[in-house]
Amino acid sequence: MRTILAGIIATFFGITTTQSQTIELVVQAGKPGAAIRPDMYGVFFEDINFAADGGLYAELVKNRSFDFTHTPLSGWTTYGPVEVRTDGGPFERNPHYVRLTNKWEILTGTGLVNEGFRGIGIKENESYRFSFYARSTDGVPKKIKGELTDSKNNPAGGVDIEVVGKEWKKYTGMITGNVTDAHCRLNVGLLTEGVVDLEHISLFPVKTWKNRENGMRPDIAQALADLKPGVLRFPGGCIVEGNNLATRYQWKNTLGPVENRPVNENRWNYEFKHKFFPDYFQSYGLGFFEFFLLAEDWGAEPLPVVSCGFSCQFQTGREQVVPLDSLQPYIDDALDLIAFANAPVTDPWGKIRAEMGHPAPFNLKYLAIGNEQWGELYHLYLEAFMKQIRPKYPQIKLIGTAGPSASGEEFDRLWPQMKALKVDLVDEHYYMPPQWFLNNAKRYDTYDRKGPKVFAGEYAAHTRPTKKNSFEAALAEAAFLTGIERNADIVHLATYAPLLAHVDAWQWNPDLIWFDNLSLVKSVNYYVQQLYSHNKGDHLLPLTRNGAVVAGEEQLYASAVTGKQKKEIVIKLANTSTAERDIRIRIDLPGKGMSLSPEVEATILSGDIQEENTLAEPQKIVPVNDQQTLSGQTLSLKVKGQSFNVYRIKYHIL
Ligand code: AHR
Repeated sequence: MRTILAGIIATFFGITTTQSQTIELVVQAGKPGAAIRPDMYGVFFEDINFAADGGLYAELVKNRSFDFTHTPLSGWTTYGPVEVRTDGGPFERNPHYVRLTNKWEILTGTGLVNEGFRGIGIKENESYRFSFYARSTDGVPKKIKGELTDSKNNPAGGVDIEVVGKEWKKYTGMITGNVTDAHCRLNVGLLTEGVVDLEHISLFPVKTWKNRENGMRPDIAQALADLKPGVLRFPGGCIVEGNNLATRYQWKNTLGPVENRPVNENRWNYEFKHKFFPDYFQSYGLGFFEFFLLAEDWGAEPLPVVSCGFSCQFQTGREQVVPLDSLQPYIDDALDLIAFANAPVTDPWGKIRAEMGHPAPFNLKYLAIGNEQWGELYHLYLEAFMKQIRPKYPQIKLIGTAGPSASGEEFDRLWPQMKALKVDLVDEHYYMPPQWFLNNAKRYDTYDRKGPKVFAGEYAAHTRPTKKNSFEAALAEAAFLTGIERNADIVHLATYAPLLAHVDAWQWNPDLIWFDNLSLVKSVNYYVQQLYSHNKGDHLLPLTRNGAVVAGEEQLYASAVTGKQKKEIVIKLANTSTAERDIRIRIDLPGKGMSLSPEVEATILSGDIQEENTLAEPQKIVPVNDQQTLSGQTLSLKVKGQSFNVYRIKYHIL
């Protein structure tokens, strides 16, 4: 079986013979070409695969405000008399709350148990902030317990809190975990006799990214920071568009106190008929303000995407489109978003940003209008947005789309329309087999240099039928990215997609990072992204073989950049053949002004191309460091079969 698979894969990669002759490449260090943008390699965040609630957003309680549409007790199991009510709750935009009645004759007591997001991840000796809003209906003090139980139903930490008074108030207590378990539950019970109303029951780790109270899971946020993303595209993806217009992503609903951000269903809840996710909602605890903060934390340019009046076209095939003459509220949302991000605090939107804790502007530079819309209408909608945004905010780079595919009728219709509208960037999406990525290493070499720039906004190599995060996929992406890099003058931004996936609740694969409730694994695709992002340099250098670019001949793909800050030349080289290759790279210097250090730092990704990193075995294929030595200006290498290699050569200016 393995042999048959290897054969199939060998065919994919066009492997033919073992090569013995030395392949000569030349890098012209004295001829820097196009500038590489500092924001070129970024991340695309979408709340798919439980990436936000249950993922990056650190809240541990699912459906904390009892407002999941049609199923207000989703995520909760009740015992004793528990009633869902909507009269007189503390938060008008999340109206549901629960009433717990405990009578002396009920031996079990009254309460409810939250299952978390496929469990609640608790770590031994770590602190968790348990909080809720409550009132005692008769004003007599009542006792509420918050108790964690582990996956074997043993107590895992708890706290009792007294509720006093008839008015709604917030109560908080600390719970220390006494076990490390990814599948705990939270039992919230009324211990004393009487009636208590509860709303917005939350459990938050104290340790969050940057220790923010409404914070992010630190391991996931750190893994994303470690990519050094240049740009953060958010919040989607199809999530922007919604299953219908009513459930589209409305960024204004994500502002202000989290308790009053109206819950919305998630676009990815019923995507696949064989696996429904009726418990997939967006609390918006991770909202636009938090996205802007994350972008700032990571040094990434924020790149929001707004709805342009189409509900999701991808796979639903029955999208709703707002009439063109009713588009103004959508355009206002875009205009107001720019003000929210960039206006001074004297502006009403700047004031809201300041009240949320960020008086300084976020310095927004990009805005995408629509996700991957297509059809005959989209360009008219985009034009309507542009007519109002351009005159008011000429400095904002506006992004249109080429639809969901890398070629075809829609692509061919949309690109000329984008050119005619003079958008700044066109967002291209491609989820294609590895062979497509290899075949397309020269894709951008012939793009029109006069038109809009390209944003490769969603891409990933999909092996069929497994769609694994295998090294096969990652190597094809690495090879393809040499072509993106070589065309940095036209391809300004690139973001892999999707970013995150919960191992027990995903809708789409492959994904860059997989996680459970306690840990994560970086896919080998992650390491490819990281190698590009950490080694992007600032200008392109010509790299050729026999005067031609290295983009697939003999299964080799290569690009080179130079970076003034680190004073280095960086060469990226993918060998997709199974054969080890003898390769000699000559660095041509500009006269006598430059010299090279003989020590060359190399980083190599290699392994079985069918393998992937998993939570159980996260280190199967990870970058390995190596040293090489220059002989004069020449680097002689034995390049492993099926490997991606990055070489860093220091230079000195004489
Ligand atoms: O990345 C997953 C989905 O793929 C995105 O939501 C959508 O834009 C594309 O179709």
